[in-house]
Amino acid sequence: MPAPLDSHGPARIIAMSNQKGGVGKTTTTINLAAALAGYGRRVLIVDFDPQAAASAGLGVNSRAMERTIYNELIAAKPDIRSIIVPTAVEGLDVVPANIDLSAAEIVLINEVAREQALSRVLRPVLDEYDLIIVDCQPSLGLLTVNALTAAHGVIIPLEAEYFAMRGVALLTEQIARIQDRLNPRLTLDGVLLTMIDLRTLHSREVMASVKEGFAEKVYQTYISRTVKFPDATIAAQPITSYAPNHPGAVAYRQLAREVIARGQCA
Ligand SMILES: Nc1ncnc2c1ncn2[C@@H]1O[C@H](COP(=O)(O)OP(=O)(O)OP(=O)(O)O)[C@@H](O)[C@H]1O
Ligand SMILES: [Mg+2]
Repeated sequence: MPAPLDSHGPARIIAMSNQKGGVGKTTTTINLAAALAGYGRRVLIVDFDPQAAASAGLGVNSRAMERTIYNELIAAKPDIRSIIVPTAVEGLDVVPANIDLSAAEIVLINEVAREQALSRVLRPVLDEYDLIIVDCQPSLGLLTVNALTAAHGVIIPLEAEYFAMRGVALLTEQIARIQDRLNPRLTLDGVLLTMIDLRTLHSREVMASVKEGFAEKVYQTYISRTVKFPDATIAAQPITSYAPNHPGAVAYRQLAREVIARGQCA
């Protein structure tokens, strides 16, 4: 068990990003956040994908919501507190999104400091959380640029399949550009291997090549492929609540301890 905290904040911000779809960004956002909350950390998830999978996965029906992250991004006077929703997990809150967010890139394009819109929205609550995780959409567009500009660190989930590394260079180049132009503090926190099946040669080979490419940046923890994750999604719960003793829940708690040990969360 990591040492408990006796005070909270200021929050570190992590962008969960990979422009490839379906690699485990949302699953990792929800389950890492829930595991850290289980260790007494105060965690906020920002759903930053118009598909709103993070909101849904936490049991928040955002479809009919009048005000979501979209409204705060484009507001003259943002008030993020008014849209934060507590989840069933103690210590874990979420800022919901819905399809409205798909208009944000077009609306923001004419704004001053359009890359800093998310930073500005999050600023008032930094002292209330230990960690903020931004669940990015599968794209390198302006929303993801906003997430990377607001963030201290990036976690890249990589699905264990042959072409996993293809396209990652684009993301690491984007990270370097943002470090250079917008956010010098940004660092690659780590690469997380997901959907591993160690019985297959293919998974073992992908694991070896990712470790060769990213060395110590690869988290020791990896996430195995299991149907419990889609099951937990349907139940709209983190796996750490839905099946707390399942190896998938054990793995995300281990990842949470690794994130704390690496100093990526208080
Ligand atoms: N370790 C795993 N084993 C099996 N299925 C998984 C695992 N992790 C995630 N999944 C399932 O794979 C699908 C994609 O996962 P997820 O939504 O987390 O990916 P994503 O990167 O957020 O996708 P998108 O790019 O569309 O936002 C989901 O149905 C999820 O339940
Ligand atoms: Mg997602």
